[in-house]
Amino acid sequence: MNIIVMGLPGAGKGTQADNIVEKYDTPHISTGDMFRAAISEGTELGIKAKSYMDQGALVPDEVTIGIVRERLSKPDCAKGFLLDGFPRTVPQAEALDALLSDMGRKIEYVLNIEVDPDELVKRLTGRRICKVCGTSYHLQFNPPKVEGVCDKDGGELYQREDDNPETVKNRLEVNMTQTAPLLAFYNAKNVLSNIDGHQDIDDVFKELDAILQGNGQ
Ligand code: AP5
Ligand code: MG
Ligand code: ZN
Repeated sequence: MNIIVMGLPGAGKGTQADNIVEKYDTPHISTGDMFRAAISEGTELGIKAKSYMDQGALVPDEVTIGIVRERLSKPDCAKGFLLDGFPRTVPQAEALDALLSDMGRKIEYVLNIEVDPDELVKRLTGRRICKVCGTSYHLQFNPPKVEGVCDKDGGELYQREDDNPETVKNRLEVNMTQTAPLLAFYNAKNVLSNIDGHQDIDDVFKELDAILQGNGQ
């Protein structure tokens, strides 16, 4: 299956992508995670991306499209993939279409997780992430069993640099302007499903899963 998980910052893209890839055994391609890995490795890509991410701005389309093109050409994507946080602009969506059509493939599911912006501020500022495996927790909504420690591997939990209130505000504004035309783009292709992301994490997954099984709406 070729899947896109969409949603504003903090909507639960990463959380649900983890659930989907665990069940459907498909590569999880998060452009945000790829940029963060490049930053921690100190590569040229990382240096370029960091200045945009620190401000809560989007990394330029040509850079982002380039890394996705390279990633999708890897053998593990041959049977399907899940894109988390890409595309985020119409030019990115058009570039993805062109890329997939060259490969004789297309997007089958666009899962858009909808959450009110006020709720997203709470989710992002309370998020904590495992340094080892990248699992997201939340101080209130999804706390680890032991404070500051990952349930899965005992890794230390940290806060993302762009999860401070000022950058969160910019991220939400930037993404909100880009979202509507992108939703129209995928709605016109009949692949878009909107999911109520205010529900519990497990209930959101049940809905997503039903859609992927062909039983959703
Ligand atoms: P990226 O890393 O993708 O960040 P984002 O879009 O801001 O989204 P997040 O990862 O913050 O949120 P999420 O939706 O994954 O939520 P999560 O599951 O963690 O991108 C970072 C930056 O990279 C961008 O700002 C940009 O600069 C750049 N970039 C990336 N892609 C790009 C692109 N295509 N083009 C240009 N630039 C790009 O959940 C959040 C919190 O809520 C967690 O604490 C979680 O435990 C909790 N939670 C999740 N679900 C629920 C629920 N149902 N109820 C209660 N709490 C919940
Ligand atoms: Mg994420
Ligand atoms: Zn962990």
